Amino acid sequence: MMKELLVYKCEVCGYILEVIDLGKKKLIENGNSFSRTITVADAKLICCGKPMTLLQANSVDASNEKHVPVISFNGDTVTVKVGSVNHPMTPEHLIKWIAVLYGDRIQRVELEAGDSPEASFHIGSERNVKAYAYCNLHGLWMSQANK
Ligand SMILES: [Fe+2]
Repeated sequence: MMKELLVYKCEVCGYILEVIDLGKKKLIENGNSFSRTITVADAKLICCGKPMTLLQANSVDASNEKHVPVISFNGDTVTVKVGSVNHPMTPEHLIKWIAVLYGDRIQRVELEAGDSPEASFHIGSERNVKAYAYCNLHGLWMSQANK
């Protein structure tokens, strides 16, 4: 089970890929200035002629907390709202999806303009949840909560 969501984005066209299995990591030489341990496949992810970017999930929002997912538990359901102040949901600026990781599982809800920036997930007896939200303009956001 992946302990975190690993998503790559093409900064040109917005294409997004999710890593499901890392396979074997290897030390990748990248010129002689630095090297890092990633998969061979990740080192070769190209879209629109450019290397795809591994998105780093932000957890602190300096601009009035519109992006950090707010997690609340209700019985065997978890609700994720983005954020403590509702994020815009216009065609130009919106939360495109919300995902939760828990135990050995992942769930994702895709959102559209006009939807509320929130989603609910049935998680059974799981007590530890990581929530991710993706804004088309401001990238990936994450928070974590225990029941
Ligand atoms: Fe945003």
